[in-house]
Order: sequence, then C-alpha cells, then structure tokens
Amino acid sequence: MYELMLDTANINEIREGLAAWPISGVTTNPSILRKEGNIDVYARLAEIKKLCGNQRSLHVQTVSTTTQEIIDEAHFILDKLGSDIYVKIPVSAAGLPAIKALVNEGVKVTATAIYTTMQGILAGLAGAEYIAIYVNRMENNCIDPFVVISEIRSFLDGMNSRSKILAASFRNISQVTSAFASGAKGATVGVDIIKAALGMPSINAAVEAFARDFDAIHGAGQTLKKRGSAPHPA
Ligand code: G3P
Repeated sequence: MYELMLDTANINEIREGLAAWPISGVTTNPSILRKEGNIDVYARLAEIKKLCGNQRSLHVQTVSTTTQEIIDEAHFILDKLGSDIYVKIPVSAAGLPAIKALVNEGVKVTATAIYTTMQGILAGLAGAEYIAIYVNRMENNCIDPFVVISEIRSFLDGMNSRSKILAASFRNISQVTSAFASGAKGATVGVDIIKAALGMPSINAAVEAFARDFDAIHGAGQTLKKRGSAPHPA
C-alpha cells in the first residue's frame, strides 16, 4: 500500500487535509510543533489523534538526546497518547539503540532524520516500521535523495523487510513524485505541496474550457444534472 501523510501540527490544515484528500496519517516533529507557538503540546497531539481516528496513523517525535531518555520519553508519549502512536526517533548514535530496544518491546517506531543509505539500512535492521528520509535537506547537502531511496529500497526488499520508506522534507512536487518513483512507499508533505499540485493553471484552464463548451450548446451554468432534471427544450 502506498501512503500520503500530512507533515503538520496545524489543526486547520489537518482538518482541511483529512476531509479533502487521501491522507493516511499525520507526522510531527519539534520544529513543526514550534510553528504552532506556545501550545499545550499534549492537548494538541491528543486533538490531532482524535481527528486521525483509528484509521490513520499519528507520528510523534522524541526530543531527548540520550538513549535511556529517548526510551523513557517514548514510554511517556505512549502512556499519554496511546500505544498505537508511532514514535519518531532520529537514527543517531543515541537513537538507534533506542529504536532497537523499543521495537523489541513491540513499539511502533518511525526512524527519522535519515540522510544516508547506511542510516536507512541500520533502521531497517533494527525493525523500524517507517524509515523517514529527508529529501530536500539531502539535496541541500548535495546528496541525491533518489539514489539513497532506491538503495535503501533494494536493501529492504533483499531482506524481505516490512519497513516502509516514508519520504519527507519536500519543497516541490517533483521531489515527491521522484521519491515514489525511486521506491518510497509513502510521502509526508505540507498542505502547500498538495495545493500546488492541484493549483496548476492548466488544470483550471481545462475545467473552464469544458464548462464553456457545455454552456455553448446547453446554456450558461448548465450541468448534466440540471439538463437531466429538465425537459429538453423544443
Ligand atoms: O518530517 C520531517 C520533515 O518535517 C523535515 O522537513 O521541511 O523541515 O526539511 P523540513
């Protein structure tokens, strides 16, 4: 299954996105939460979880920088928000042992802050369910994210892993489509990306031309429903 998630903690954006688009989850991180200002973090995350319901996943990132603190923080997050939360943990020297320990406990882990193939391999071996790859940040550092995605994908396929590549960190639509084409099973995007995809001027130009063509024969503002509900004029 392929997935599209929203990378935001903004309630209006989440409401809009979940209602309108095929979204299977919401991802957050401390920087995304920062954009919301001095909010009650757990109240906000609980609200997002409620909006997500049982059918969509919510991914919440730890902030701690030592292994034991990351594990403790993950337990706290799960106690507060529920055991179905995906705990996002950076694949760092401190984070990888925490991922390994938490996966062994049965916790759902999203490995994050991935810039290299080796980090993805380590996350896959540790059993993370999602492997979040920072596409735009990699390009900013002259790393080709699509080569990295395809290398990690080959590795995961080779070991029959159930870990899924979740591409993240996007500035444009092309990065998203290339991530999927390179082997990502999911992408987490800001609402700006989806709006840009649907806001392409050619789309509206085509829709307006179709309406004009129908109007030309059947009258201004007519639709198939309106025409079907009224007798055909003599
Ligand atoms: O989910 C990770 C993502 O939020 C990082 O994206 O936009 O801060 O590079 P960005």
